[in-house]
Amino acid sequence: MANPAPKQASDFVAQLEAANLHPLWDRFRTLTPVKPQAKDPPLIWRWRDIEPFTHRAVSEVPIDDVERRALILVNPAFGGDTVTTSNLIAAFTVLDPGDRARPHRHTFAAIRFATRADGAATIVNGRRCDMRESDLILTPPMCWHGHINETDRRIIWFDAANIPLLRQLDANFFEPGDPKANQFWQVDEGDEKLWAESGMAGADIQRGPAHSPKYHYSGAAMRRLLAALPAGPDGAHTLRYTNPATGDSVMPALDCYAVRLPKNNTTRPKRTTCNMICLVVSGSGRSTVGEHTFDWSQHDVFSIPHWTFASHIAKDGDATLFVVSDRSAFERLDLLREELQ
Ligand SMILES: [Fe+2]
Repeated sequence: MANPAPKQASDFVAQLEAANLHPLWDRFRTLTPVKPQAKDPPLIWRWRDIEPFTHRAVSEVPIDDVERRALILVNPAFGGDTVTTSNLIAAFTVLDPGDRARPHRHTFAAIRFATRADGAATIVNGRRCDMRESDLILTPPMCWHGHINETDRRIIWFDAANIPLLRQLDANFFEPGDPKANQFWQVDEGDEKLWAESGMAGADIQRGPAHSPKYHYSGAAMRRLLAALPAGPDGAHTLRYTNPATGDSVMPALDCYAVRLPKNNTTRPKRTTCNMICLVVSGSGRSTVGEHTFDWSQHDVFSIPHWTFASHIAKDGDATLFVVSDRSAFERLDLLREELQ
């Protein structure tokens, strides 16, 4: 039988659509693209542009009026949506002396990385985590957390969370804590001690939820391990922050890494199906991400959208990046694919 004339075909499609039916044959290329196509081009946010806004936020936004005083890094490719790169947001939070960011908990996963946060403290599930240079603090799903600045200096740290992923899944729950509950803040490191000794764990400790039972990862330990690690196949020295009970990622849908780039050694271009946000911890250098090349220095942040080749080089000495990604989510869904050029 001959194919129907175009007019008949479009009448048929219109009738299907009116009946809440879609034909697969005229739209399967859209439904099943041959490869991932990130909505966002890579982008860099420079610390010299961000820093003045952090100070202005302190003078214009009292912490008691807001849940958190954070400036979120947004890629305009998401059309005004509050997204840094697919599935992830990154931000800088600022706390003045005496500020308390009140307790709450939620199902999205979050981390903070201490850029200028020496002496601040984050309380996570009744454990006080004192922040030192380059420390990583986890606030895993549904763990109560609050932040306090008891120093006499302004505190700024880098945050990241998987809020866009949870919004996509419509799976976020949020519970505010009692802002007046003083006992929330009157805690010591508590059970964090159980996970402080690398390679040793209590034999009778029950395995808890899917996330790491350790919330505080020391910046000094990160630097020691990075200095000792051999280079990987791409030429970078990479450590993964892990759940000490399982050796797996720190959280099921948020996955953290630190990378040391040796001076003047361009890493091999690599692409992966997951999304990454890179914070420059120390040093300076240059990254080529897809068609874009960025020169960066300390506390700049740039995105590596999924399935985009990225390579990096440190200038004027070694450089260190902190990388937060949704890689563990892709692993669990069996969707992780990586290529090295
Ligand atoms: Fe939070």
